[in-house]
Amino acid sequence: MMQSQSAPRELVVAVPKGRVLDQLGPRLEAAGLDPAPLYAKGRELIRVDRERGIRYLLLKPDDVPTWVEYGAADLGIVGRDVLLEREYDLYAPVDLGIGRCRMMVCGKPGQPVRGEGGRTLRVATKFMNIAARHFREKGVAVELIYVQGSVELAPLTGLADVIVDLVETGETLRANGLSPLEPICEISSVVVANRASLKLERERIAPLLERLAARG
Ligand code: PRP
Repeated sequence: MMQSQSAPRELVVAVPKGRVLDQLGPRLEAAGLDPAPLYAKGRELIRVDRERGIRYLLLKPDDVPTWVEYGAADLGIVGRDVLLEREYDLYAPVDLGIGRCRMMVCGKPGQPVRGEGGRTLRVATKFMNIAARHFREKGVAVELIYVQGSVELAPLTGLADVIVDLVETGETLRANGLSPLEPICEISSVVVANRASLKLERERIAPLLERLAARG
């Protein structure tokens, strides 16, 4: 739809579908935004808050930085795991402190986190770069096996010795008889901003970032 000449263009905010969305609502509200369009039922991937001039894009979490880096969104909300896994040319000014979890090496209880008997440790993960960096820093030789999900099955079925994955409540590990073996890093959701948007729309974006940064 055409916007009138005088109205400023809508700010485009890329938002991850899934778990973090529930925690995001109260933070947006506290920052003076209206999260209601995000929770309205329906399959629409664009949700508009006309009153505040915000256009939300509902995206797979891993895709949020791509939209923001290319300027198809001005701002985005994304887990730090995504930013650690791939390099993006983005500004990440605010840690929201939501979506808290840990990147960990996990496996069967007592499983050593190193190769044994001259065998290389086999690691299944979606986070190939984070895992490679972790084991390189530790000086442990690994064979990395890429899987997209249900990674907990890997140690149970002999695909791998251990996994590198996110642990939030630990429920998925427990339900599958696995244990956390080694922490890698803390993860939470951050706001990312397109570099050009930040300059061109500073007057609107800077105060919004400040309000998003304030925690209750
Ligand atoms: C993540 C992660 C674990 C689970 C951990 O997957 O890969 O499987 O959450 O959470 P918990 O410690 O609270 O059980 P998610 O459910 O986000 O789905 P995904 O595999 O599609 O990423």
